[in-house]
Amino acid sequence: MLLHIPDVLTAEELADLQGRLRSADWTDGRETVGRQGAPVKHNQQLPDSSPLKAALGTIVLAALQRNPLFFAAALPLKILPPRFNRYHGGGHYGFHVDGAVMANDAGGYLRSDVSCTLFLSDPDDYDGGELVISDTYGEHEVKLPAGDLILYPSSSLHQVNPVSRGERTASFFWVQSMIRDDAQRRLLWEMDTSIERLRQSQADSVAVLQLSGVYHNLLRRWSEV
Ligand code: NI
Repeated sequence: MLLHIPDVLTAEELADLQGRLRSADWTDGRETVGRQGAPVKHNQQLPDSSPLKAALGTIVLAALQRNPLFFAAALPLKILPPRFNRYHGGGHYGFHVDGAVMANDAGGYLRSDVSCTLFLSDPDDYDGGELVISDTYGEHEVKLPAGDLILYPSSSLHQVNPVSRGERTASFFWVQSMIRDDAQRRLLWEMDTSIERLRQSQADSVAVLQLSGVYHNLLRRWSEV
């Protein structure tokens, strides 16, 4: 499931991140890529050891924490600390699949179920830079307003088109979901959103309660925590 989550960051947070990234020390993005991705990755990143990366990541994680849409769609168990990248001067990242298992800072591991890109540049400020996600329905080009997030299954092939004018900065990270399977996660998401809509429309409260019970019992059946 591809899901666009608008306004993840407030205007103040976005301005703060943009300002601090403008004067950041960027390094070659190939610092954090496996053998499969290295030949096709042409961008820059904040180094993993960068205090700025940690500080900005904390802001992103706090924003996710207060976002009910993100929680309902990703059902996050663990989130890898957010990273930050920049594409400019033709920078791009050819088709690849993200690593399935990633080491986290604490010496443990995280399985990548859900990939997220949080756009940080105004789309009018650069040309190209679309995130292209390929799935069984074809290719989807994604270029969102600054502060908005796209969430997609980590199993998808994806690429970032060359940035031919201006620069594109973004935050990206992976989520290990309580629900490993994308189709199950999608069913839960659809059920959750329709229950919420029924609740807001003052529908039969007994039926809504019963449906909520079904949702939670499916979550109980399918979740790994
Ligand atoms: Ni990727």
